[in-house]
Amino acid sequence: MKLSIIGTGYVGLVTGTCFAEVGHHVICVDNDAAKVKLLQAGGIPIYEPGLEELVKKNVAAGRLKFTASTAEGVQNSDVIFIAVPTPPQPDGAVDLSYIERVARDIAAAMTSYKIVVDKSTVPVKTGEKVAETIKRYCAAKVEFDVVSNPEFLREGFAVDDLMKPDRVVIGVSSPRPAAAMREIYTPFNAPIIVTDINSAELIKHAANSFLALKISYINAVANICEAAGANVQEVAHGIGLDDRIGRRFLNAGIGFGGSCFPKDLSAFIKISEQIGYKFELLKEVQRINADQMDRFVKKITDTLWVLKDKKIGVLGLAFKQNTDDVRSSPAIDLCHRLLKEGATLRVHDPKAMDKAKSLLPNVTYVDDMNAVAEGCDAIVVATEWDEFKQLDLARAKKALTHPIIFDGRNLFDPAEMEKLGWIYKSVGR
Ligand code: UGA
Repeated sequence: MKLSIIGTGYVGLVTGTCFAEVGHHVICVDNDAAKVKLLQAGGIPIYEPGLEELVKKNVAAGRLKFTASTAEGVQNSDVIFIAVPTPPQPDGAVDLSYIERVARDIAAAMTSYKIVVDKSTVPVKTGEKVAETIKRYCAAKVEFDVVSNPEFLREGFAVDDLMKPDRVVIGVSSPRPAAAMREIYTPFNAPIIVTDINSAELIKHAANSFLALKISYINAVANICEAAGANVQEVAHGIGLDDRIGRRFLNAGIGFGGSCFPKDLSAFIKISEQIGYKFELLKEVQRINADQMDRFVKKITDTLWVLKDKKIGVLGLAFKQNTDDVRSSPAIDLCHRLLKEGATLRVHDPKAMDKAKSLLPNVTYVDDMNAVAEGCDAIVVATEWDEFKQLDLARAKKALTHPIIFDGRNLFDPAEMEKLGWIYKSVGR
């Protein structure tokens, strides 16, 4: 099918590329001319495993194109996906101005029947507003349908999640667009759920909030484990084997971050309130998440006492492994907290150092993770990168003034670390 994707951020670029990979003809549109130029020249603006190869392959096959013109995208496709940012506002509500702008631009360019699909994460009832806007601004007075098709990909695993989705959710207000949407997704061999638009929009917020709730739940349990002398990983394993619960997203640590969970929780709380329900449970999820960072910082200050003039090596800056994304990263937050206490930092991340530099200008960036500990008083693990498990512990131990490690992501085994002579502090163990 002929598709266009407006917005080439994480969701738009990966979605467009994967649609091309299964045989659709895709035009990716972005109003950032420099980004479009970069993509046209074969560059990729984000790090995402497997993406670069797929983009190159599909551009070469003539199925994937980039343009800065919305009109070009709209006029050369049957289905138009909106994948622009929906950033948070100070009061927790979502800024929908990019969506509104794009809806108007699409309306102005439409000259025949189109299906306009919202892929950005939006509060319930946004689809209704998009439809109203297109109707109002549609110059040619042609027919159209609005669809909600939320995205469930995780950064760092985006290509895999898109190529092998657990489910595809399609929210429609009439049967007409459902057939085309099914056709687009048939090659992905996933269960397709067709709902009304409001339900589809709610599925996204409810899913992300539930996953965040799961993380806060295990973090709360981790705190009980610490007080009781239990091990949260064993508890997570024991409860996770119940397939009504499941083991995934039960990793205790310094809390969740990123561009989705914190924003979506606030937005879900806000929209719930606006339509008459106070979602106190989700406020507690937020509170536990914030508290988790406070507790970890306290663990560090309880052990190192005064941080002023202490040097700390930090492993990890990205908000999680396999990504260079540092938006709302707990690791960056932790660095700011340590700097505020007067510590100096040597930091390393396998992919996120470039993107961290504007947020953390006054730290030393170290290219080799095994050199981070040099001259430091302690090491902190802030992101769950698998490769940190291969840290040269003998070298780090020699380089530190005392062998102290604060593991905010439970990457190492406490008994093993103690045997090796480390003072080892992790979360919930
Ligand atoms: C999340 C959802 O997992 C996706 O399904 C969704 O599509 C996406 O948001 C979105 O709305 O676009 P993402 O933000 O990429 O994906 O990252 P996650 O893998 O969910 O991790 C989020 C945060 O939770 C990270 O900071 C991670 O370190 C933390 N986390 C995750 C934990 O602390 N413990 C866990 O067990 C899992």
